[in-house]
Formats: sequence, structure tokens, C-alpha cells
Amino acid sequence: MMVESEIELGEEKKAVINPEIKEAADGFVDKVFSKSNIDFELVSVLRTMAEGRIYNDMIERPDEYKAKPQIASVEPWDGKKPAGPRDFLKKKVSLPSLPQVLIQIQKVINDSDSSASDLAAVISKDPKLVAAILRLANSAMFSFRTEVDTPTRAVALLGFKQAGSLALGTVSLSLFKRSKISVLEVEKFWKHSIACGVIAQEIARAANLGDPERFFVAGLLHDIGLYVVFESQKSLAVELLKRANKEGTSFYTAEQDVLGFNHAILGGVIIKDWSFPKHLVISAAGHHNPEKAKNDPDAGVVHVADYIARALGYDLGISPILGTISEAAWVNIGLSVDSFKKLLPDFESLIEDVFEILRPV
Ligand SMILES: [Fe+2]
Repeated sequence: MMVESEIELGEEKKAVINPEIKEAADGFVDKVFSKSNIDFELVSVLRTMAEGRIYNDMIERPDEYKAKPQIASVEPWDGKKPAGPRDFLKKKVSLPSLPQVLIQIQKVINDSDSSASDLAAVISKDPKLVAAILRLANSAMFSFRTEVDTPTRAVALLGFKQAGSLALGTVSLSLFKRSKISVLEVEKFWKHSIACGVIAQEIARAANLGDPERFFVAGLLHDIGLYVVFESQKSLAVELLKRANKEGTSFYTAEQDVLGFNHAILGGVIIKDWSFPKHLVISAAGHHNPEKAKNDPDAGVVHVADYIARALGYDLGISPILGTISEAAWVNIGLSVDSFKKLLPDFESLIEDVFEILRPV
């Protein structure tokens, strides 16, 4: 009897919708999807999910939806446009310097004579990396039947390429630190990167694209160019943000309009200069424009995962507007929307797990 009344009460509570908040939530959802191809089935699935999430969020975290204060400590932009990504990188850019362990990982994975034990030896030298790799290998992302307790075991189970790529991504993410004056919310940047990586990997796995871990790393690193714009040229970043907000466009569009190039291209140049694997260069450079990287599935998967991550609320906190998703990129992946829907319920816990493991301290 008591159980019945509790159920009734619960249902009653659920049915009460605050019309004012509902209107505000619907307005916000309209804005988020205003530039999206809403007739595309995948988008309409994500929009329906966003309606519920944003309504609940507005009740639970109303402050997140209030206008953010301007950042007063940033000088106005001097209006000097770099001629292109190379020119941008030549000027006062603070690129994170590659730690020794990252250089060694690269050497091992680029050397065809290297063995699994060489890679395990490099990983073993860095206790933080060992901890991250072991926790990742034991997480729900990889359902290995046995416990992975040493780097050697992790490399054996994951395979040389995948373990190397995972180590590369793990150390790279830790380079993106919080600076004293930060225009970019770095926590959001990490979470967005991890969400994009997890979603890219799960989609690639479900679509049988092979080596799903490489998509995880591609997702982790896809917005590296954005981090560099925000951390190196804060005044320019604020100018681009203002422009995107004023014109109701995405940050990417503002970059294209003002600079004539964008963070994706910049990221590709940086990753190439670091001599990272080619697929990571292509996926970063092409994640907003996957049709240009036609024969490469990586850019397409990362493009789709980036859109989905933001639609699920793992955004960068710089512009709520999603932009369009390439239907051709989705079709190339070869996954049905129904199969995708089956993956959705696991995303949140996978993303939170990986975030706890990889979040730089
Ligand atoms: Fe991006």
C-alpha cells in the first residue's frame, strides 16, 4: 500500500512542469540548435535529449544559464591579423613544451624496430603515466577479463599501437594546464576533449572501424588549436568570443571571418610539428570540415563525436550554438541511428570514469 502511494506521489511530482522554466529551456534549446540541420534524424534525437537535460539543468544549476561577467583584465585586441597558422605560431605563442616521456613514447612508436617491452619500459619510467594507463586499462572502456596490473600486461592486452597511442594521448592532455588568467574554462576543455574521445571510440567500436583507441586519442587532441588560441592570444580569443556572441554564430565561424583560418587547421599544424601520427594530424585539422579529408575516417568520426559531445552538454563553454553536423560524415561511418541510441545510456558513466582518471591535477 505504502509503495503504491509513493509511486503515485513520484509520478505526480514528475508531471509538474514549471511553465516559466520550460519556456526558458525551450528558448535555449532553439538557440543551441539554431544553426543545425534539424531534419537530420540524429540531430532530432539529440535535440529531444537536450530538451529534458536543459530543463532539469535550469532547475538544478540556474547560475550556469545566467550571463557571464566580462573578463576585465584582458587588453583589447590590437587587430593585427596573422597571415596564416604558421605566422600565428611564429608570434608569442606559448606552446606547451613536450615532456621527456612524451618524446620517448614518440620515438618508440615511430621506430619499426621497437618492441612491446620497449614501450612498457618507457611507460614504467613515469609513475603518473603508469597509474593512468593501468586505471584506463581496468576501466569500463576496455572490458578485459583479467586485472591489468603492470605496464607490460597493459601493452600486451591493448597491443603495441593502441597502448602507444593511449600513452601519447594521456600525457598530451596533461599539458593543457590552467593558467593564471584563463579565458577558456580549462575544466570544460578537458571534459569536452575526453567526452569527444570516449564518444569517438564507442562509435568506432560499434561501427567496426578497427583500432577504436586511436579514435579516443584523436578525440582527446582535436581541439588543441583552440587551447593554443585561448592561452596564447587571450585578447584575440575574447574578440572572437564577442563576435560569435554578437552575431549568433559559432566560434569557428568567427575565426574564419576574422582570421581566415581556424583552430582546427592550427591544431593540425601543431600536431604535425610534434611528429605525432598522421591520423591525429588529419582528425584535428579536419574535425570541422570532414568532407575535405574524404578518404580518412578519423576526421569524420571526430567531427560527429565533437557535435554529439556538445549536444549532450559537454561543451567548451564558449558558445552554446552547435553549428551543423555533416550528414555525409555520419553516413560514411555506417552506423544506424538506432544502433547509436543503444550506445547513449553508457556515455555519461564512461566519460565521468575517464575524466576522473585523466583529469590533470
Ligand atoms: Fe573544434
